[in-house]
Amino acid sequence: MRVMTHFLLWQLGFARAETQTTEAERDCLARQAAGKKRLVEIGVWHGVTTCRLRRAMSPEGVLFGVDPYPVGRLGFSAQWRIARSEVEKISNGSVEWLRLTGVEAAQLYLSRYQEPVDFIFIDGDHTYDGLRHDWQAWSGVVEPGGIIALHDSRSSATRRIDDAGSAVYTREVIMQDERFEPLETVDTLTVMRRKKSD
Ligand SMILES: C[S@@+](CC[C@H](N)C(=O)[O-])C[C@H]1O[C@@H](n2cnc3c(N)ncnc32)[C@H](O)[C@@H]1O
Repeated sequence: MRVMTHFLLWQLGFARAETQTTEAERDCLARQAAGKKRLVEIGVWHGVTTCRLRRAMSPEGVLFGVDPYPVGRLGFSAQWRIARSEVEKISNGSVEWLRLTGVEAAQLYLSRYQEPVDFIFIDGDHTYDGLRHDWQAWSGVVEPGGIIALHDSRSSATRRIDDAGSAVYTREVIMQDERFEPLETVDTLTVMRRKKSD
């Protein structure tokens, strides 16, 4: 469905916010985010997974929603309006919106905050270089024991994506990164945990 058609239907209550994640992936993300205090989601779109993360995190937690949301032909981003409205319906913890790329957001985060984060969900630019840039920018910001979950990182029974850039980078680089250990996989989602000592 075209973006503006979907936006109008969503405003009228005839269409829902959209996601490419499966229910099992969202359940896994919520389980891994439970009780976490500093969370980052790179790639928010309509905010479906952001809502799950916000519900699951600690009431004292802060969730950074990172997405550049380029402005469309009508001078605004329909996805950004949908995401804000959906995520702000959830009352748990707080959300900070960073309308930036993952790399820009990491630079801003490191200039403002000293604390490491305990959960990151990477679901932004799925090209090889896109994921490489996000991994290089954010993987060192995760505390020991913290989680990085990666969407579109492997093939599932219903989606064969072995040749996608994000799947190749996950397989060839992230799975070999000695600072992290694989924790679980669900459909195309891979969950990595930073080791207690590198
Ligand atoms: C697959 S969608 C995210 C879906 C969302 N996580 C969900 O499942 O509900 C990908 C999003 O990543 C954003 N994006 C693209 N390049 C990005 C980048 N370099 N950094 C952060 N976000 C990016 C796009 O604007 C788009 O909204």
